Formats: sequence, structure tokens, C-alpha cells
Amino acid sequence: MIERVAELRAALDAARAQGRTVGFVPTMGAFHAGHRSLMRAARAGHDVVVVSLFVNPLQFGPTEDLARYPRDLTGDLAAAGAEGVDIVFAPPVEEMYPGFPVRPLTTVSVGTLTEGLCGSCRPGHFDGVATVVTKLFSIVGPSTAYFGKKDAQQLAVVRRMAADLCLPVEIVGCALVREADGLAMSSRNRNLSAAEREAATVIHRGLQSGAEVVLAGERDARKLRRVVANVLTTEPLVRLEYAEVVGADTLAPLEAIEGDVLVAVAARVGDVRLIDNMTIHVATSGAVVDLGTTVAPAGEGLCAAR
Ligand code: PAJ
Repeated sequence: MIERVAELRAALDAARAQGRTVGFVPTMGAFHAGHRSLMRAARAGHDVVVVSLFVNPLQFGPTEDLARYPRDLTGDLAAAGAEGVDIVFAPPVEEMYPGFPVRPLTTVSVGTLTEGLCGSCRPGHFDGVATVVTKLFSIVGPSTAYFGKKDAQQLAVVRRMAADLCLPVEIVGCALVREADGLAMSSRNRNLSAAEREAATVIHRGLQSGAEVVLAGERDARKLRRVVANVLTTEPLVRLEYAEVVGADTLAPLEAIEGDVLVAVAARVGDVRLIDNMTIHVATSGAVVDLGTTVAPAGEGLCAAR
């Protein structure tokens, strides 16, 4: 594990000087099979794999769960080692933001892409993400960086930021990974009680109901939205924050389901905020729905959750 920027830069400069490529997976730790799938993709494509582990205070609002965010450095180092990660970069907060809690003067904003969906519920969140990811790219200098489709808006924001700022890094989106019962893997799932954990599966069921009506031919975005929302509101422990049908790249609300579509959901289960999504591709031959991949039940297969 490396904690200092200068030490990481020296190690990676030496690797690049030998012609070795660097693949990068930014994370906030508390690893699960979703994180591990990104590490595996990076491992398959690069000589050197760097994972950053930094709970970025800039992307948490004042009333959000920064203090309660799950942390498990020992478990994370073991998981990264098992996936063949070469370097875990885990900087203390002052290394990333000298003078913190004074905020950096220079930040990165990605305009209208960050206004809707989670951006409207979490003001400033995506500025925090864009700023830390820009800094991490500048520190690590990867040729490729891997992000999960679970955070679809974050992936769109990072792609757009990299394009707008001509950052010399390829952004790869990796499949959303689900638990065996359909719940999207999230570090925050660790903060759910047993009853909340059970209730949270309604989010996936809502998306599945949406997928069924689209596959049966529904092309009205408002009707699709209603189908998904209606399922989620049947579960008393779950409070729907939003269910939206938007363009997959523009993130702008749609009336008709055509082209590449993102169906994005955010809900509170107790104190825990969860997000999930599916994408739809509508071609002349019909619609294709992508709900991600599901891991084998614990103990079976490589992808089993820890
Ligand atoms: P974190 O929530 O730790 O997620 C790190 C990466 O893992 C992100 O790219 C996220 O999309 C991906 N990921 C999380 N759950 C996943 C799942 N179920 N399936 C597939 N991929 C999944 O996202 C962040 O950290 C931060 O915002 C960060 C980008 C590190 C900036 O601080």
C-alpha cells in the first residue's frame, strides 16, 4: 500500500519508463464483487494495476453518511491482493486536500449532466467526484480507467469530463454486478439491517417489471416510469427518491423509449441511500435490456461476494 503521491508517482514513472501500461480502478473501499470485477478487468488489460482507496469527503454533503461510510482496510488489502492488484493507493485526506477541511480552490464541474438524477438530490456531489477523479488521473496517469455501470450518472460524467478536458485516458464501463437475489452490490449494503436488506430487493424487482413491459413492446417513457415506481412504493421500508427514464448519454428525460435509454432509480432504505439502474437499447428488431450480471450464491464461483 502507498499513501503518498510522490511515492506513487515515482513507482509509476519507473514502470512507464520500462514501457509498462497502467490500468486504474478508483474506489472508496469496502470492496465487494462489483469492485473486484473492475480490478479483474484492469488486471486482464494492463501490466500494472493501481486501485485507489479514498473516501472522498468532497463528494459527501454536510448531512450525508461520510462518518458512517463502511471502512475495511484489512479486508480490502486482502481482496485487492487476491485479484492481483499491484498497488493500492490509500492516501490520508491531507495528502489529497492539503489544508482540509478548507476546500481546494480549483474544482471540476461537468455542467448539465450533473443537474438531474442524483445531482438534484445531492447538490455538489458530482463536483466532488469530478474533482477527485481528475486529481487521481493526474497522480496515477493511467492509460485506462475502469468504472462500474452501477453508477451510471457518474460514468457519464467521467466520460464527458475526460473528453471535454482532453484527458489522455480511456474510460471503460463495466457491468453492474448484483447479489444472487438481485440487489445491486454496494458498499452501503453493509449498513442495512436484516429487514432492510430484504426490503431492498424490491428495487431490482421494480426494474425487472419495467424490463418486462419494455420487452412486451411498451415505448412510452412515462408509463415505464410508473410501472417501476409502483413496484417500489409497495415496500413500506423503502422510500423512492426518484425513478427516471433518460437518454443514456444525455441523461435528459425522455418521452419515448428509443435509442439508448437509462432507467435510473434512487431510494432510501432506512438511513441508507441506494441507487440502481438498467439500460435499454431499442433497435428496429426490438428492445434489448441490460440489468447487469448476478454473482453465484456465496461460496460458489469466483465472483461470490465476500
Ligand atoms: P465506489 O462506490 O467505491 O465505487 C468504485 C467503483 O466501483 C465505481 O466505478 C463504481 O461504479 C463501481 N461499482 C460499485 N458498485 C458496483 C456494482 N454493483 N457493480 C459494478 N461496479 C460497481 O464510485 C465511487 O466509489 C467514487 O465516487 C469514486 C469514483 C471512487 C470517486 O471518489
